Amino acid sequence: MTQTGQLRLGVNIDHVATVRNARGGAYPDPIRAAKLAEEAGADGITAHLREDRRHISDADIDGLMENLSVPLNFEMAATDEMQKIALRHKPHAVCIVPEKREEKTTEGGLEVAREENKLAHFIAPLREAGCRVSIFIAADQRQIEAAHRIGAQVIELHTGAYCDFHAEGHFDKRDAELERMREMAAYAHSLGLEVHAGHGLTYDTVQPVAAFPEVMELNIGHFLVGEAIFRGLGPAISEMRRLMDAART
Ligand code: PXP
Repeated sequence: MTQTGQLRLGVNIDHVATVRNARGGAYPDPIRAAKLAEEAGADGITAHLREDRRHISDADIDGLMENLSVPLNFEMAATDEMQKIALRHKPHAVCIVPEKREEKTTEGGLEVAREENKLAHFIAPLREAGCRVSIFIAADQRQIEAAHRIGAQVIELHTGAYCDFHAEGHFDKRDAELERMREMAAYAHSLGLEVHAGHGLTYDTVQPVAAFPEVMELNIGHFLVGEAIFRGLGPAISEMRRLMDAART
């Protein structure tokens, strides 16, 4: 059974690369941002190498693997190309996410239940290579059970809908989604899965999720990179860390 305990913060640096790529060239450097995040208390760095390379590049992944002192959580779609890249680098963790070219960001959770056999075969070599395999899913019992059956060690609950309802002022729907996530975090934990959460979290929305005792890790990116414009990346991360720790106690 997975233990509950200290909540980890994974800082997602994709959108440092988005700003860099808006102009081409080398600035701002995602590796420098990752090192700063480490200094500011990030327990891990998350980066999503998308099929279209719209933000993180292959060279960024090389640089992260060479330079990080904290674990890399490599987000990837379930494609042969990404599997090869992951097996070459053998990052500490891989998180399998759905990916559509036309989407602005990862819009929904992975459909595990329908793709169970395919995904079981897909993640087996990653597990054998020593990567901790996480599956990014909605708070849905069917998907959690399927993630468990295919041999994932971790599920990451998609907090995007909860955050969107909050931003749009649909507080009844937000609270219902939060309740669903609370129940599903406990359910996944009871199956022996480690539970993570992320997507769209901000200072306003992080604490109710951080308070779930089963959640071991939050992965947060876009808001922190935006907030860094106003207060700097280190202070933006420190404040998120403070809010997470306060919610946990
Ligand atoms: N977790 C997963 C699986 C994601 O795909 C993303 C976005 O790349 C995040 C967390 C972080 O989301 P955000 O950038 O909105 O904080």
